[in-house]
Amino acid sequence: MSDADDPRHFLEIDDLTAAELTALLDRADEYKRAQRAGEEHEDLDGRSLGMIFQKPSTRTRVSFETGMTQLGGHAVFLGEDDIQLGRGEPLKDTSRTLSRYVDAVMARVFKHENIEVFAEYADVPVVNGLTDDAHPCQTLADLQTIREHEGGFEGVSAAWVGDGNNVAQSFTVGCALTDLDLTVATPAGYGLDDEVLERARDLGGDPTLTDDPVEAVADADVVYTDVWISMGQEDERDVRMNAFEGFQVCSDLLEHAPDASVMHCLPAHRGEEITDAVIESDRSIVFDQAENRLHAQKALLSWLLE
Ligand code: CP
Ligand code: NVA
Repeated sequence: MSDADDPRHFLEIDDLTAAELTALLDRADEYKRAQRAGEEHEDLDGRSLGMIFQKPSTRTRVSFETGMTQLGGHAVFLGEDDIQLGRGEPLKDTSRTLSRYVDAVMARVFKHENIEVFAEYADVPVVNGLTDDAHPCQTLADLQTIREHEGGFEGVSAAWVGDGNNVAQSFTVGCALTDLDLTVATPAGYGLDDEVLERARDLGGDPTLTDDPVEAVADADVVYTDVWISMGQEDERDVRMNAFEGFQVCSDLLEHAPDASVMHCLPAHRGEEITDAVIESDRSIVFDQAENRLHAQKALLSWLLE
């Protein structure tokens, strides 16, 4: 098969050009408007999505499954231990087999290389539903949410406070693609990968890096955080809890960002990276983010499969 015939995958947010990303966000807004208006779209009539999960999920699983149903298609949940992958069947065999049954695969795996191998062998589009390094579907919803709350991206400044993890890395590249001004505050040793920073800079981004959360949030329009202990890092709990002291998104920190909205991809560990008071406050837009997973992924799937 020539490159031109290869399916389009979505493993990283910058698998989209800036123009494609904008078009996809427009499509996501349209799906949101249509759903609110009670209009039905059968854009994926009869199509199937395989959903592989090596880690737990609430939002990703339910938004992909309901999104497929709402577009006239259907999704098959494939927990790792329910399929032969959990008993050692190679990814490349699982990939080629599923390609014969379904129209697209969404996978949540540990190592990022694993989704790359899966995509290499797939004859259908493969979507990254989170790896240790990236969470591009989350970034789509994050950008949709920022755009709807701020009315656009121009002149908007975002602050990331906490771990330079999968969500932070995709968000950083997403900010570069949309010209969003970004400051990232992480403790020493928990910053973004150099390779991610390079990609962001190649796209014209210029994220400011600091280890000072106050400096990061000063005059920000959105303050974003995520857990300090991601799935698979449970053994590092004690070390990480020490390392992230002072990085909690709390009312005191937000005094330095009086107009900022607060974002979190969820699930949140209240009392760790964010306080209960902040997440329950009027500033919190976390459930808009969660809702937009649905609209953004419907846009992504219909675009990949059209
Ligand atoms: N934000 C997110 O991906 O949530 P889940 O782990 O519940 O899918
Ligand atoms: N960084 C978190 C995100 C969960 C959606 C994790 O990987 O566990």
